[in-house]
Parts: sequence; C-alpha cells; structure tokens
Amino acid sequence: MTSPAIRDRTVLVTGGGGFIGSHLVEALAPYNDVRVLDNFSTGSRDNLSFASPSATGSQWAEDTLASTDGGTDDTESDADGTDGEGDDSNGSLTIVDGDISDPMALQRAARGVDLIFHQAALVSVTESVDAPRRSNETNLDASLLVLDQARQEDARVVLASSAAVYGHPDELPVSETATTEPTSPYGIQKLALDQYARRYHDLYDLPTVALRYFNAYGPRQQGPYSGVISTFLEQARADEPITIEGDGEQTRDFVHVSDVVRANLHAATTDAVGEAYNVGTGERTSIRELAELIRDAVGSSSPIVHREPRSGDIRHSRADASKASRELGFETRVGLESGIRSLVTAAGGEQASSSSSTQQRENQGRERRQHQQQHQQERPLAARPDRQSQD
Ligand code: UD1
Repeated sequence: MTSPAIRDRTVLVTGGGGFIGSHLVEALAPYNDVRVLDNFSTGSRDNLSFASPSATGSQWAEDTLASTDGGTDDTESDADGTDGEGDDSNGSLTIVDGDISDPMALQRAARGVDLIFHQAALVSVTESVDAPRRSNETNLDASLLVLDQARQEDARVVLASSAAVYGHPDELPVSETATTEPTSPYGIQKLALDQYARRYHDLYDLPTVALRYFNAYGPRQQGPYSGVISTFLEQARADEPITIEGDGEQTRDFVHVSDVVRANLHAATTDAVGEAYNVGTGERTSIRELAELIRDAVGSSSPIVHREPRSGDIRHSRADASKASRELGFETRVGLESGIRSLVTAAGGEQASSSSSTQQRENQGRERRQHQQQHQQERPLAARPDRQSQD
C-alpha cells in the first residue's frame, strides 16, 4: 500500500519543529509550500535542518515574528543565503517563530493554506497534572484558535489527539467507540479537542480528522518529557541502569513516527472526515520486554532496575486499528524490533559524524535526569495503581 501523494498544496504544520511535526514537514516540504508555526519551547530548529536547500532543493525562509508583543517583523531571510534552485522538487518551507495562542502569528502562518496539520501541544502528561490551566491554554484554548482560523481559510484540519482520551480502557484492544474516561488534564484536553474537531465538521462543515496516537517513538524524540523508548535507549547507550517504573508488566502499543506520518497523509486525503481514528499497531509490549529488547539491540551491559511506579500510570494500552484500516486504508509498516534497530543504527552514525549533537543529547539527558529526580523528590509516595490518574 502506498502513501497518498500530497503535492502542490499550501500546508501549515503547527508544532512543526517538534518530534512528530518535523517528520511531517520532512515528508511534505519537497513538494508543497509548507509553513511551520512553532514557538520552539520544546521543538527545535535542528529538527528542521534536513530542509536546507542543498538537501531538498526547496526554497526555505525564516519569518521572524516578535511574538512577545504580537507585532511582526517583515524581514524574511534565506536560511543559508541561497535560494535553493535545483532539482525536481518544487516545495518551500517558511518558519514562523510564534505561538499558536498568538492570533497574529497564527493568521500570518495560516494565510492561504488549504491544509493544516495541528501538532503543537504541551505533550507532558506530568506537566498537565502539575499545571492544568497552563496546559489547557495551549492544548485546548489555542487549539480552538487553530480550528477557527481553519474556518477562515476553508482549510482541512488533521489534528493530533491521543490514546490518553480513553483513560483505563474497559477492554483491549481499545476501539474508537470505547468509553472515554481520561485520567489526566492532558487526556481531558485532548478529548475535548477531539470532540470539537468532530463538531466543527458537523456544525460548520469543516473537514476535520482527529488521530488518536498511541505511544509514538522514533528519531528526534528527546528532552525531559520524551517517551520511554528514548529514555531507555539513552540509558543503555551510557551503560547506565535502565529504570523501569513499577513491575514492568504494564504494556503499550508502540507506533513508529514514520507510520504516524503516513496516518496523517491518509487523513489529509480521505473522504471519511468528521471522524476520530486510532493510530497504533494493534500489538502490545510490556515495559520489561522493551527494556530487554533495547539492551540487546544496543549491546549494552546496563542492569535493569525497578523504581516506584509512576503516579497515575495506565496499566495496559493497545489499539484496535481496524477503523483506520477500513476507512483510511492505513496500516502500520514498522514493527517494534526493526524500529528500535534502526534507531540504534542511526544513533551510531550520528555519533560518528557529529560531536555537537552528541553534546546536545548529553545535555538533554542531563536535563531529563534532573527532571526525573525532581519528580521523584516531589512525589516520594507513589499512588496505588487503583488510584492512578495519569496516562
Ligand atoms: C504516552 C505519551 C502521551 C500519550 C500516551 C498515549 C509520551 C512521552 N507520552 O504516555 O503523550 O498521551 O502515550 O497512550 O510519549 N516508563 C518507565 N521508565 C521510564 C519512563 C517510562 O518504566 O524511564 C514507563 C512508564 O511508567 C509507563 C511506560 O513506560 O508505564 C510508558 O511511559 P511513557 O513513554 O512516558 O508514555 P505514556 O505514559 O504511555
């Protein structure tokens, strides 16, 4: 099955400097006029470094917004001083450095677009528990601005929802019709957004698709709030203890970012709009199995250790992926073992070629460890599993 071709469109990717957003931009930018709106609070410009004219033949420009006062600076500059003419690609990439909650930045980034991939979010469940209103401002209030802007532009919106909408699923695999009982502010915000998207379709005839991501992983997932795979990989590479939270028997459905991108492309072209779809493999892996898989793939001598379970952790999660298969024609392609192997191989190449990115990873690792320690200190007593409230 091939991925749908998206060509010659004007596309906005909110959060395009982030983990999933940057992979979407990478897929789209050679053939479309792509705008990225990102405040780079958790994303990074390095994530978009593939888009240099020499790499893609694309034109790309930096659109600097004075986002602190909402004013604009009309200066546009080529990222490396060339205009990138060359091969058969005909896309462009414009980066708008601004916040989705800033209406001027949003208007400017969305002007004339016919398709919006809304990826910008505060993705940390833990942070949403610590500061629910703050995460609500981004994940819901600002997301409504994006939906309203899409109405202005008459643009389709494909947006990032989450398996967090289900909370503790009643049965596995979990289908889109399952009870939605989110256990964290993050899950509540994603559920509200997911429902708004469908109501915007019904009420205003806006073509929307909500994609409920399960546990996405892949290259560029890094930083203190990244997922368990990037944490374990980093620990294994450093021959440090691999830290399992709880007994390790909890399970997840890990989906590779390249499959997440393909799901987005299907959602961008489907006629089956006004719907929400699970994006997962339908397979589940325990955290213990994952730790061993990663240790073996890296060839590490890390011990596997256990610490307190995470407050609010979900016990099991696995997607029923049949609706996306039936209605979007989407199937995942990357199995967990090969996905992890490719991460290990890619990291080896990167280490050989870039000491600065190694330094960056080390800094991010340090930042992550500090964050984990801080949370361990803040929450010395783990909640009992039956009282857990976070995904
Ligand atoms: C993830 C997403 C979340 C999404 C949800 C949907 C990330 C960071 N979070 O949450 O945005 O809503 O899937 O299903 O991708 N663990 C350890 N040791 C570690 C880190 C984690 O044992 O060092 C365990 C956790 O306790 C948890 C499991 O691994 O049981 C997965 O954790 P994590 O990768 O943070 O993802 P989720 O909490 O499932």
